[in-house]
Amino acid sequence: MKHGPLLFLGVFAAFFASWVAGVLAPHLQIGGQSLVQIDDLGIQYPLDRTGEAKQGAQVYRAQGCHYCHTQQVLQEPLLSRLTLTDAGTNITDAVAALRKVRRDLDADAATELVRHPPQVILAHAGASATDQATRLLTNAGARVESTIANLGPDLRRGWGTRRTVSRDYLRDQPVFLGQIRLGPDLANLGARQTNTTWLLRKLYNARIDLPGSTMPRYPYLFTERRLRPGQAPSPDALALPSEFAPPAGIEIIPTREARQLVAYLLSLRSDALFYEVFPPPTDQCRDKTGRDHERPVRPNLVPRP
Ligand code: HEC
Repeated sequence: MKHGPLLFLGVFAAFFASWVAGVLAPHLQIGGQSLVQIDDLGIQYPLDRTGEAKQGAQVYRAQGCHYCHTQQVLQEPLLSRLTLTDAGTNITDAVAALRKVRRDLDADAATELVRHPPQVILAHAGASATDQATRLLTNAGARVESTIANLGPDLRRGWGTRRTVSRDYLRDQPVFLGQIRLGPDLANLGARQTNTTWLLRKLYNARIDLPGSTMPRYPYLFTERRLRPGQAPSPDALALPSEFAPPAGIEIIPTREARQLVAYLLSLRSDALFYEVFPPPTDQCRDKTGRDHERPVRPNLVPRP
């Protein structure tokens, strides 16, 4: 082979480049992140999980829940909201600039907006539109402010109040990001579901509360216990509707794994606020069609159960 060394170098360069892009660069970017000290509350975010919840994470892993559930809330990151905060001294210039940005406005409407800042000029615009509008308006002496709009189907579905960021996973090993969403995202499950009984029932048979659910059943995370004549049922026994209930004299008791898994599910929440993903005021909770949607505002940083 005449060009052996060259070929070797080429293959080496290809592997090296992908190692730099895939391993080294991300490590330099986020590899050094540390827990976030929140002085007011005297805690470090993310909060540590209880021992039971940590064991539950292993059950989650062993049962392959991550094959159907992601733990990552996404959003449309490049949409910004542009607010005119100050029109400057030259109103005529500002109006002219504004009418270039917002061609739908006539002179009167534009003047009205310019005279009464702050005014939202673009509710959710792409990066280039935001840049261009900023340039036009600042050249005319006005001042504008742009903020990232937290939008996207995940937030509309109520899966979180913001996208997840790398800090949310600092304590997780491994991280169950998941790839396919056959079921809902679970990154914030603990914020929307706090009912242990409901979660245990879901694991026993998802169709009890949602007929037709395609989530698999996990009956082996429960044991059947036969009651002796006259024996009182255990307080831990699952309360099941009659069509799912075992025959009389038998009760369904969650195993330790089931309890650990539920403790883990309850501990899932990533809704502490960070400057990079600060949720917008509620008037911004609007999708592309301009429809308003409810965004529940929840207290943040409630210690994990
Ligand atoms: C084959 C895919 C699949 C697997 C595996 C799976 N699920 Fe699900 N899961 C679903 C689907 C589909 C739904 C939505 C329907 C429903 O709520 O029953 C769901 C719903 C849920 C919900 C309710 C979420 C909500 O926001 O209401 C929870 C909690 C849940 N799954 C937990 C788990 C856990 C824990 C495991 C592992 C033991 C698991 N799932 C494994 C498909 C799956």
